[in-house]
This record gives sequence, structure tokens and C-alpha cells, in this order.
Amino acid sequence: MDKIRIIGGTRLSGKIPISGAKNAALPLMAASLLTDGKLALSNVPYLADIVTMANLLAQHGVDISFSAPAKNIGRTMSLSAGNIHNLTAPYELVRTMRASVLVLGPLLARFGAAKVSLPGGCAIGTRPIDLHLKALEQMGAHIELAEGYIHAHTHGKLQGAEITFEKVSVGATENILMAASLAEGITIIHNAAREPEVCDLAYCLVEMGAQIEGIGTDTIRITGVDELHGCDYSVVPDRIEAGSFAAAVAITGGDCELVGARMEHMQSVAEKFADAGVEMIETENGIRVIADKKIQCIDIITQPYPGFPTDMQAQMMALLCVADGASMITETIFENRYMHVPELMRMGAKVITHGSSAMIRGTDELNGAEVMATDLRASLSLVIAALAAKGETVIHRVYHLDRGYERLEEKLSACGANIERISERTAASFKIPEAA
Ligand code: UD1
Repeated sequence: MDKIRIIGGTRLSGKIPISGAKNAALPLMAASLLTDGKLALSNVPYLADIVTMANLLAQHGVDISFSAPAKNIGRTMSLSAGNIHNLTAPYELVRTMRASVLVLGPLLARFGAAKVSLPGGCAIGTRPIDLHLKALEQMGAHIELAEGYIHAHTHGKLQGAEITFEKVSVGATENILMAASLAEGITIIHNAAREPEVCDLAYCLVEMGAQIEGIGTDTIRITGVDELHGCDYSVVPDRIEAGSFAAAVAITGGDCELVGARMEHMQSVAEKFADAGVEMIETENGIRVIADKKIQCIDIITQPYPGFPTDMQAQMMALLCVADGASMITETIFENRYMHVPELMRMGAKVITHGSSAMIRGTDELNGAEVMATDLRASLSLVIAALAAKGETVIHRVYHLDRGYERLEEKLSACGANIERISERTAASFKIPEAA
């Protein structure tokens, strides 16, 4: 297991390339199961979660190739599901990545059966999948839960249905979008998720021949078609990566351009940065972040898109640790998403949590410490705090970061950050001599 060492105190300036969005690429990859044609995805980030999804699809029988253009960014992935021989998504893969459950809708729609491991709990909460299952049942699927698996099958094709989600769910909207594209008749999804990653999937499905209206609204109407075909599609830039780097730039009082970032996907985040005294200006190639004032305290409530994203909560908290005054964050999406708080407090942050709320009192005194990454976005909050902290911070368990941030150290050090990765394997083999 690798560690990351950061020595805080340098101001970030320069350009940071923004990768394709992991949360868009994962459902797009799952969509390859809907056709025997070739889906060629470009701008795919090279990340642990992408590799996990590729392994999952490969064991179903998807033929995958991943080409690496210059500098390892924006890879192209070709997926052909013309020879699917296994309809089971096994526990070993699903437990490491919840998004694996996105194979359920496509498998069921195209092959009439699927067996997918229940994802189980995860670090940020219980995260059930009842909405996915209930909606598929409404479409005529027979679902049983046994031995930790979802056993699903249909008699004939899935049927279009009118589905009202009682809660906005990104994953459930994506699963039903894919299933409904090959179902018989019309499906209407009410209270659909509107995240740019959901729209990216819908636009790709349309390129593949699906009939979808209302993309980007909370009511989506899908008219099922008999078959879909392959297409070329470029993954949308990652708004959460862009927002994370904006917070990193802001905490160092820096000035950077986030190349490729799209302002239209970042309105709620940009508004909060503006309230905190950080400018985000749209440029020809992305967004410029300028932080030349003292950070001001702000209040944030996480909400489904277009509200403030839960996936930016931890990173914004790190920034607010150095603000003038006290800020309040209320997390409404996940019930256990403050695991970064005790780690930030090890660095001198003054945070009190109570249920879904956290109060952050600003301080000028963040200090380097040994801390532990607990989940993907929490890990980045530690990186952000470390960039402003006095002295050295060592972040353990960086495999969480590797799930969602492509070439993080390289991107930050190119803008002046003092950051390096230490391979723990070297340290471990030093301490524990190999058996003779
Ligand atoms: C996706 C994102 C994740 C992000 C989250 C919310 C991917 C791969 N992951 O996760 O990074 O934090 O959206 O923006 O895109 N819920 C239920 N029943 C369900 C499904 C969800 O109660 O069947 C609840 C969840 O527990 C949570 C809320 O609905 O409280 C939203 O979850 P959801 O939007 O489904 O998150 P994911 O799709 O898992």
C-alpha cells in the first residue's frame, strides 16, 4: 500500500488537466452490454475503479481493449459484447465497487436474466439498492435475493412502466435508463437524477439508437427499441475532480486553470466558492480559479444535482478549516460521510459534528500529521488540508485516491505542490524479510 507525503505551504499556479469523469465512464462501460456492436469510449480516465469495471465486464465475456495515447490521459476503450457467456457479477468484484450493480439493468434487458452480488455496506453508509430492484420489478422482472445475490429473470422482454423514484438516485436512474432502452413499450421515470453523468449516459444511449426524451430533466421518457448498435463517444470531463482541484488551489491562495472543466456543470460549486471569496472564471479552455483573498465562512447543504454535490463535501470542508469564521455543512445524501473529520482534526482542524451537520471553525494553524484516507473524496480532503498545513503530512491508504483521481501527484506537483508517493511495499519488505 502506497502513502503520499506532502509538505504544505506552496502556492499552486499553472494549468491542471481535468480527466474524463469516472462516474460517467462506469455506466457508459456497462452500457456496452446492451449491444453486440462496438462501443468506443474516448477520454476514459485510467483509474482503479475503471479497471475493476473492465474486469467485471471481461468475465461476462465483453472483449475490451484500452489504448494509451500520449501522457496516459484520455485513453480510448473499445468494448464489444457480441459474445456474452456469463450473466453473473461475482461478490469479489461487486464488493470492491458498488457501481458494479450497473450491469444488472443491461444484462436483464438484453439476455432476460442476471445474477448480481448484493453490494453490501460501504464506508459512507448502508447505500441500499432497493430503488433499482423495485423499478425493475415494475418492468416485469422477477427478483429474488438468496445467498447474497440478486437473482433476476424475465419472461420475454422487460416491459415499459411508469416509475416514480421516492428518492433521487443516480445509479437507479442509470440502471433503468439502460434497461428501458431495450424494453417493450414506453418507460417514464419520474424524479429522475439529473447529474451530468446521468445525461452523459443518456446521450450515449441515444447515439446507440435509443429513444430518450427529457434528458437533463427530472422526467425522462424512454421508448424501447428492438436493438442498439455501437458508437463512438467521449466521456464528459470530471466536475468533481475539477471542484477538488479548485479547493486545492483555493487553500494555497493560488491561481490555476482547470483545463477541460465545464462551468455549466459546476454552477452550485462555483457559487459556494464565490461566497467563500474564490473566483472561478470560465476561460476558452476551462475554468480559471483565483484565490487572492482570505477564505470566508459559508454554509453548505448537499443535494442532488443541480444542488451542491455530496462528492464535494469533504473537499470543501477542508477548505473551510482555514476560513474566517464558522461554517456549517449539512450532509443530506449519505448518513455516514464525515469520516474525514477526525483525520482533519489530527491536523488541527476545529470541527464538531452532530448527526448530519458539521460546524467548522476556521483556524490559521493547520499542522502536518500522519493521517489515514477512509474513502475516495475524504482522501482528497486530507490532500487539500495538507497543502496548507505547516510541515509534513503523510497520508496512508491512498488506494482510495487511486480509485478516482488520475495522476494526482503529477498534476499537483506540476503546479508547484511539494507532493510525492512513497511505495509502502519497499518499506514493508525492508521490515519483514522474505522467508528463506
Ligand atoms: C452515485 C455516485 C457517487 C455519489 C452519489 C450521489 C457513481 C458511480 N457514484 O452513487 O459518487 O456520491 O451518486 O451523488 O456514480 N438510495 C436508496 N436506495 C437505492 C439507491 C440509492 O435509498 O436503491 C439512496 C442512497 O443510500 C443515498 C441516495 O439514495 O442516500 C443517493 O444515492 P445514489 O444517487 O443512488 O448514489 P449512487 O448511484 O450509489
